[in-house]
Amino acid sequence: MAQKLWEKNIQVDRDIEKFTVGRDREMDLYLAPYDVLGSLAHITMLESIGLLTREELDMLTVELRNIYDVAVQGRFVIEDGVEDVHSQVELMLTRKLGDTGKKIHSGRSRNDQVLVDLKLFTRARIQEITTLTSSLFDVLITQSEKYKNVLMPGYTHLQIAMPSSFGLWFGAYAESLVDDLTVLQAAYKVCNRNPLGSAAGYGSSFPLNREMTTRLLGFDSMDYNVIYAQMGRGKTERIVASAMASIAGTLSKLAFDACMFSSQNFGFISLPAEYTTGSSIMPHKKNPDVFELTRAKCNKLQALPYEITLISNNLPSGYFRDLQIIKEAFLPAFDTLKECLIMATRMLTHVTINDHILDDDKYKLIFSVEEVNRLTLEGIPFRDAYKKVGLDIEAGKFETDKKVHHTHEGSIGNLCNEPVKLLMQHVIDGYGFEKANSAELRLLGQ
Ligand code: ARG
Repeated sequence: MAQKLWEKNIQVDRDIEKFTVGRDREMDLYLAPYDVLGSLAHITMLESIGLLTREELDMLTVELRNIYDVAVQGRFVIEDGVEDVHSQVELMLTRKLGDTGKKIHSGRSRNDQVLVDLKLFTRARIQEITTLTSSLFDVLITQSEKYKNVLMPGYTHLQIAMPSSFGLWFGAYAESLVDDLTVLQAAYKVCNRNPLGSAAGYGSSFPLNREMTTRLLGFDSMDYNVIYAQMGRGKTERIVASAMASIAGTLSKLAFDACMFSSQNFGFISLPAEYTTGSSIMPHKKNPDVFELTRAKCNKLQALPYEITLISNNLPSGYFRDLQIIKEAFLPAFDTLKECLIMATRMLTHVTINDHILDDDKYKLIFSVEEVNRLTLEGIPFRDAYKKVGLDIEAGKFETDKKVHHTHEGSIGNLCNEPVKLLMQHVIDGYGFEKANSAELRLLGQ
C-alpha cells in the first residue's frame, strides 16, 4: 500500500483514514486534469528559479502531459491507500522519474494545490455553463420572435390580468439569463486569480515567481495576500454557487410555468409525446416530468450557496479540513446545472404553442384595460374611463371586439429582443475566456 505524503513511522489507524478521506478521492477525480495543469506551471516556474534543471523540467513536463491525457480520457485512477489526487500525481511521477518526481513539491502545499485545482476546474465549468446558457438564450429568442404576435393571458395573483404574448413570455426568460450570466461573469472574475505560491497559506521562503505562474495559467491576476488566498476557499465557491443559483432560479421558474401551462386546465403549450412520461395506472397520462425534475434539481441548486456558507462561515483564517467537504456539494453541482440547461434547451426547442387561447370566452375581460385605453384616447379622462368600463363589467355589459384590440395592445408592442441580444453579446464578450484557454493549451504544448 502506498504511503501518505506525510507518513513517517506511525501508520494511521484504518478507521481514521477511512473517515478523513471519506468521498474525497471520488471528488478529486474531477480535479485531476487541473492538478496536472497547476503542476505544469509550478515546475516551469521552479526551473526558472533554479530549483529544477532544464532536463528535469523536460522530463516532468512529458510525464505530466501524459497524465493529463489519461485524466481527460477519464482513465485516471487514485490507487488504494493513496490519499488524494495530489499524492497520486506525485506518486506516478516518482515511480517513473525517481528523485526528479520528488522535487516538484518544493515551495508548494496541497493547500494551494487544491486551491489552484478548484479555480481551474471552476473556470472551465463556468465556460461550459456560459455556452449552454447562451444556447438556451438563443432558443428562447428564436421562439420569442417566431410567436411574437401570438397572444396568451397574463396573470397577476394567478388571476387573469392582461393580454400577454408568447413573444414576451419566451423573451422574459431570455432576458433573465442575461442577468444571470452577468452575475456569473462577476463570479468568474473572483475565481480567475492565482492562489499558487501561497503554499500552506503563509507563502514560502523560496523566491517563487508568482507572476510567472499567474501568466502561465492565464489567470487575470493573483490572490496577492497569501493568507487571503487560503481564505478564498469556500468564499470563491459560495460566490460561484450564488451565480449558479441565479441561473437555476430562472430555470425553476421557467419549469414551473411550463408544467402549469401544459396542464389541460391551461392548455397553452404542449410537449411532443416522446418528451413526456406515462402513468402505470392512468393510460392517458403524458406527464411533463422533465420540467418537474428540472424544477426540483434547480430548487436544490439554490440551496448550494447556503450549504457552502454553513460549512465554512464559522472558520477562522487558515486551512481546515472542513473545506474538503465543500467539494462534495460544489463539484457535482455543475453537472446538474449543465444537464438542466441541456434539457430545457431541448424541451423549449420542441414545445408547441396554442395560438387560439384567447378565443375562449373566459378571457374576454382580459381586454378591459384596452377598452379603458381606447376611451382615454377618445378624450375621456383615464379615471372616468376606468370607472365606466368597471361599471359595464359589473353590469354584465362589457363587450370588446378582440380583433380590434389585438392590433394595438401592449403585449406585442412591448417586445424588445434586439437590445436584449446586444446585452447578451456584451456579457459573453466580457468574460475573456480566450486568455485562459490559450494559456492552458500552451502549457500542454498544443
Ligand atoms: N483533500 C484536501 C482538501 O480538499 C487537500 C488538502 C489537504 N491539506 C491538508 N493539510 N490536509 O482540502
